[in-house]
Amino acid sequence: DKGLHRLPDHPLGILKNVIENYFCEVDPSVSFTVMDDLSPIVSTYANFDSVLVPADHVSRSANDTYYVTKGSVLRCHTSAHQLELLKHGHKRFLVTGDVYRRDTIDATHFPVFHQVEGVRVFEPHEWESQNLSSLELASTELKTTLEGLVRHLFGECEMRWVDAYFPFTEPSYELEIFFKGEWLEVLGCGVMQSSILDAAELDGHRAWAFGLGLERLAMILFDIPDIRLFWTPDPRFSQQFKSGMFRAGGVGMKKFSSYSKYPPCYKDVSFWLPQDKNFTENSLCELVRSIAGTLVEEVKLIDEFENKKLKRTSHCYRFTYRSMERSLTDDEVNEIQNEVRQRLETDLHVVLR
Ligand code: DAH
Repeated sequence: DKGLHRLPDHPLGILKNVIENYFCEVDPSVSFTVMDDLSPIVSTYANFDSVLVPADHVSRSANDTYYVTKGSVLRCHTSAHQLELLKHGHKRFLVTGDVYRRDTIDATHFPVFHQVEGVRVFEPHEWESQNLSSLELASTELKTTLEGLVRHLFGECEMRWVDAYFPFTEPSYELEIFFKGEWLEVLGCGVMQSSILDAAELDGHRAWAFGLGLERLAMILFDIPDIRLFWTPDPRFSQQFKSGMFRAGGVGMKKFSSYSKYPPCYKDVSFWLPQDKNFTENSLCELVRSIAGTLVEEVKLIDEFENKKLKRTSHCYRFTYRSMERSLTDDEVNEIQNEVRQRLETDLHVVLR
């Protein structure tokens, strides 16, 4: 409900606006419809089937995706809206929204983050008038548009296209940039599978599509060290961001300056895995997150061994607790940890050691 991407002075809102402006300015004769408040609860059909995710794909499991009911989920990507919007007659659009994934816990992963999705449909006369095949037009246009977007965000930089796989595009690519000595993936994209266009009664058309994650790019561009900071109510964070502050590549822009970090508190727990083999790291992380909220910074497997005679496996996890806003007291961390230990036994059926 926070709609961080709709707050004009929040780093996610700032970045989203910069991206939307690029698509409105790049070629003012082709306007993109901009949407940012579609409900995050979508049908499993929209989230998976409509974008051709195979029936046995891991992302469909309750270990990876948050199911609301058997037939509905918290969208795990904004691609969930592609087909619906095409069916409604949209031919050029951007959709920004909160997306949800069950995952591990560290400084770059949070169960909710934000994506921007873009789609551009071409009519036959567009490639015919240029004497190109539809595929040539779509893939050339895709590459020049997204290279322009990356320059708009990062300034002049070295880029490379890497072949990728997404079920909804063919060919599929990832665009990477060389930034501060490393190759970084910026977005995924490709030429939309024809069967999606067919399903929207757009047979004979071509389209490209892309999707990018806002947090990762905002962390790089604004120098934000921990993904939980996006959610902090601390004015020492929010007061450092203002709409209009953004400069390509962060050149000449005041980056985020970290206020002093509060001390971490480490808690280790060792347990035998349940015999039924149903234990997963994602469910452990979900359990800790549900008790500790944003106070948990990292969950890390630090030791693992198998007792061959007893045919049992033991895991030792280290939890790092730290608040972004204040010092935690021993009492409150102990209370959280005790609850985690209890729920490990009752909910995940492990045997504490
Ligand atoms: N939905 C993909 C993801 O969440 C991102 C993506 C890749 C979106 C390629 C697209 C695309 O529209 O063409 O990882």
